[in-house]
Order: sequence, then structure tokens, then C-alpha cells
Amino acid sequence: MRRMVHPTLKLMLLLLMLLGLVSILVNASSIQSDFGHCDRVVKRWAFSSLDQEIKEDRHTLRDLLFFLHVPRTGGRTYFHCFLKKLYSNNLECPRSYDKLRFDPSKTKCRLLVTHDDYSMMSKLPNQRTSVVTILRNPVDRVFSTYEFSIEVAARFLLHPNLSSAIQMSGRVRSKTKGVSTLDIWPWKYLVPWMREDLFARRDARIQKGSRDIKSNFSYDIEDIVMPLHKYINDPVAHDIIHNGATFQVAGLTNNSYLAESHEVRHCVQKYRILGDHVLQVAKVISQLRASNTSMKSVSNKKSEQSPSILDSDPDNNDHQNSSSDQNAGQLASNEDGEAMKENMTVEDLMEAYEGCISSLRKTQAARRTASLKRISPANFSKEERLQVPEMLLEQIRSLNHLDLELYKYAQEIFEKRHKHTMEKLITAEMWESMFNNSYGGVFWKVFPLVMTIILLFCLFVLFVNARRRTSKVKI
Ligand SMILES: *[C@@H]1O[C@H](CO)[C@@H](O)[C@H](O)[C@H]1NC(C)=O
Ligand SMILES: *[C@@H]1O[C@H](CO)[C@@H](O)[C@H](O)[C@H]1NC(C)=O
Ligand SMILES: *[C@@H]1O[C@H](CO)[C@@H](O)[C@H](O)[C@H]1NC(C)=O
Ligand SMILES: *[C@@H]1O[C@H](CO)[C@@H](O)[C@H](O)[C@H]1NC(C)=O
Ligand SMILES: *[C@@H]1O[C@H](CO)[C@@H](O)[C@H](O)[C@H]1NC(C)=O
Ligand SMILES: *[C@@H]1O[C@H](CO)[C@@H](O)[C@H](O)[C@H]1NC(C)=O
Ligand SMILES: *[C@@H]1O[C@H](CO)[C@@H](O)[C@H](O)[C@H]1NC(C)=O
Repeated sequence: MRRMVHPTLKLMLLLLMLLGLVSILVNASSIQSDFGHCDRVVKRWAFSSLDQEIKEDRHTLRDLLFFLHVPRTGGRTYFHCFLKKLYSNNLECPRSYDKLRFDPSKTKCRLLVTHDDYSMMSKLPNQRTSVVTILRNPVDRVFSTYEFSIEVAARFLLHPNLSSAIQMSGRVRSKTKGVSTLDIWPWKYLVPWMREDLFARRDARIQKGSRDIKSNFSYDIEDIVMPLHKYINDPVAHDIIHNGATFQVAGLTNNSYLAESHEVRHCVQKYRILGDHVLQVAKVISQLRASNTSMKSVSNKKSEQSPSILDSDPDNNDHQNSSSDQNAGQLASNEDGEAMKENMTVEDLMEAYEGCISSLRKTQAARRTASLKRISPANFSKEERLQVPEMLLEQIRSLNHLDLELYKYAQEIFEKRHKHTMEKLITAEMWESMFNNSYGGVFWKVFPLVMTIILLFCLFVLFVNARRRTSKVKI
């Protein structure tokens, strides 16, 4: 079955390349040579990527699980509340969010969690690595990126001026061993950018002597924060936010290990039609990964060692004292203890997951509220998102057209797999425990927007393990 899928995709790619060729012929202008160059660069990359992908068969959960964490997709929760329950701490690779600190060839670990893009695979034992990622509705992802970069940057406003903020954060970082948000791609670009912007706006306000700023629309308060429409049109956003999920899955981000990635990415950003090649590669990668499995079980014997106190997930970590993060770590560790009982059932796991998620949510909400106070009256909320003009939303969709298509495609795969799995792998009883009881209900509620391509793939592990345990008990 798989063998039939790949040639089809390859054919589609060929067709798309022909399309590109036609557009060269039509477009006989002076930019032709640049386009021609880009066209060749992108195609060469696409062909070599596909070639490599198609040769490989990664349908089983391999020795190393690489969680390719697309920023702002709920990856922290997934990692903290789910993966950590499957992998003990000693199986976790040193965090590689800060890639200077990580050399995968030197470590014998089984779980790698990072914002690095797919080009990271060139550093990993290819034959022994499985990849998991989470995709989220691209428009929500852009909103979340905007809000989070402002949220983190706003914490610095406690300092009297920008230079003192930079100085202080540098000092704190060199003292603590933890990874700071400011070390981690893409926040190492987005946060300083927003920080500088927030201070500039505050200084201007002080100079003007303007006091009461009244506004009921947080996404456009020019006096306090960069309005959303400016943010999404900035070159930085073009460089690292738009179509970010597709570029990350294809290994073409601004953070890529692949030498030609920057040229390919710039070409694709310049000539929209070339994006189709990237999309095809991303789809093939997703297709291979989202596949159905003969599953090996993950070793999940928890070690005694306590979890690292400073959680380095960049989605919510920074240079400041993070007592709330420590609490979250503590809470999670308690739940780990429970979750790792030998005869844990799917329901137990879901219950632990639910508890873990709600405690994470609470600490995150508290930090966010505290941080946004500094830029009041700007106070981002779901309700206000509904007030964002349709024109702006349309622009976001257009800027993220590749991500939208990849997301749609992933949803389709997911539904297909889901159906197939339900028919084939899950017994009626499991189905019931999964969907009819309250935990099942909660489980689907916690992922209303976040689409997991391969979450299901991981769930298989749970099912397999749960089943094995049950049968062990019976014997
Ligand atoms: C920034 O604030 C610090 C601490 O208050 C002060 O010492 C320094 O002179 C200020 N720098 C500028 C450029 O205003
Ligand atoms: C803000 O207030 C104005 C009138 O005061 C109203 O027309 C507008 O809909 C409000 N916007 C939001 C986002 O509430
Ligand atoms: C990545 O993007 C940031 C922000 O636009 C930029 O400062 C940086 O130079 C870029 N890095 C590469 C390798 O292109
Ligand atoms: C899943 O794998 C089984 C064999 O393990 C195969 O028969 C089935 O066709 C596969 N399904 C998909 C959707 O690939
Ligand atoms: C961190 O917390 C400790 C006490 O828990 C406090 O003494 C220290 O000043 C705090 N540091 C920062 C940067 O807030
Ligand atoms: C788990 O198994 C032990 C025996 O191995 C049993 O005493 C205990 O009641 C079981 N717990 C649950 C929740 O089934
Ligand atoms: C922002 O909104 C949240 C609820 O959405 C509220 O709890 C919080 O107090 C508000 N913050 C400010 C500064 O108005």
C-alpha cells in the first residue's frame, strides 16, 4: 500500500515541476533568470529530499523518538504530560533547544525534544529514528506566536530602560544553568525584537507625556505594542513565522542545518509557486511518519531520579525566577509516580494527563496575566480575536498558505488513520473506555485546535502496553 502512495506523490511532484516549467515559458521577463535559478535550486533540493525519504521505511517506533516541536502548538504540554510518562528521565536526550549544547552523536538517549527542524535528521541515526510532530491551525499559531513574543518581552518592562533590561537578563542567564527563552530559536529573535519595540514605545509615551491610553482592541494599540498588522508584515515574521510549520517539517527553517536551506527558503518566499515543492516534501515526510505500525513497546520503567527542576521548554521558560515552573515540575513528578504503576490503564493515563494539563494551564495563565499587566490595556483574549477584521485574517491565511494546506492534508491523513485504526486495532472495549467515559471526553476536549499527526501513533504504544499488561495480569 505504501509503495503505491509514494510513486503517486512523486508523480504529483513531477506534474508540479512541469507546471513550474510552463510558468517559466509564460514569464519571459527580466526576472526570468532569477526565477530560473530559484526554480532549479528548489527542485534540486526537493528531488534529493524525496529520494532520501522514499528509500527509507520508518514505520515502526524506532530506538530514538524525535519530537519535532513546532513552536506554539501545545508541544510543551504534550511533552510534559504525555511523552514524559512514556520515557523516563534517563532516556531523555539533553535538551537540544539550544543546539550549541547538544551533540546527538555522543549520547545514548531515546527521546529528543527540540524546536530544530527536520534537517536535524542529518545528525541523528537515521535508521533508528522516528519523528513525531504536532500541527496546529496556522492562523491560531500566528496569533499565539504574536502574543507569546509580546508576553515574554513584556516581563522585561520591570526594568527602567532597555540597556538595563538587557544587562540584567544577561547576568541572570550566566548565573543559572537553565536554558533561557532568549537562547532558543525562534524566541531568540522574536523576544529581543519585541522587547526593543516595547521599550521604544514606552519611552515615546513618557516623552509625549501621554497617560491614559484607552482602547478596547488589544491587537491595535500603537502606543503600547506593535499592532498585529505591523507584526505580520515585518521581514522578521516573513523570515521565521509564516509557513513556519511547513518549513520546519521540510527542514528549511532559518535554523536549518542544511547548507542550501536558506537559498531554497528565500526562493520559495520570493516565488510563491515554488512553495508547492516544499509542500510536497513536507507531505511526503508527514505521510511516512503518520504511518501505521507494527509497534515495538517503549521502555517505560521510570528511574528514581527526580525530574529536572528547571524545565527548559521554551514555550514558557525564561530567565526569571520561575517558581511556578518548579511547581509544575513537582506536580508532574507526582503524577508520574502514579502513572507508572505497572497495571496502569488507559483511563489512568488519561486521568494523569488531565491533571497534568490543568496544572500546566493554571501556571501558564497566571504568568501570562502577570506579564500582560505591564502593557495594559492590551490584554489578548479569545473574545478579542473574534474582533480582528476579516481582511487581516485573510492576509494571515495568505501569508501561511503552505501551512494551511499542510494542516488540511494532515487532518485528512489523521481522519483516515483514525478510522482505520479504530476499525482494526482497537477492540470495542477500548473504544468505549476511550470515547464514552469521561476521560475520553476530556481527552478530545484538550485537543480542540491542536492537530496531532502522529499522536495516534503514540497512542498505539499505550494501547499495546496496556494490552500487554492486562494479559500479563491475567496469566
Ligand atoms: C538605565 O537604567 C539604569 C538603572 O536605573 C541607569 O543606571 C542607567 O543610567 C540608565 N541608562 C540610560 C541610558 O538611561
Ligand atoms: C470598541 O468600542 C467601539 C465603540 O466604543 C465599538 O464600536 C467597537 O466594536 C468596540 N470594539 C471591541 C473590540 O470591543
Ligand atoms: C534568522 O532570522 C532572524 C530574524 O529575521 C535573522 O536575524 C537571522 O539572521 C536569520 N538567520 C539566518 C541564518 O538566516
Ligand atoms: C497498516 O499495516 C497493515 C499491516 O501491518 C496493513 O495491512 C495495512 O494496509 C496498513 N494500513 C495502512 C493505512 O497503511
Ligand atoms: C529569585 O528568587 C529569590 C528568592 O526565591 C530572590 O532572592 C531573587 O532575588 C530572585 N531573583 C530574581 C531575578 O527575581
Ligand atoms: C494493580 O495491581 C496490583 C497487583 O499487582 C493490585 O493489587 C492493584 O489493585 C492493581 N491496581 C489497579 C488500579 O488495578
Ligand atoms: C486580562 O483578562 C483576563 C481575563 O481574560 C483577566 O483575568 C485579567 O485581569 C485582565 N488583565 C488586565 C490587566 O486587565
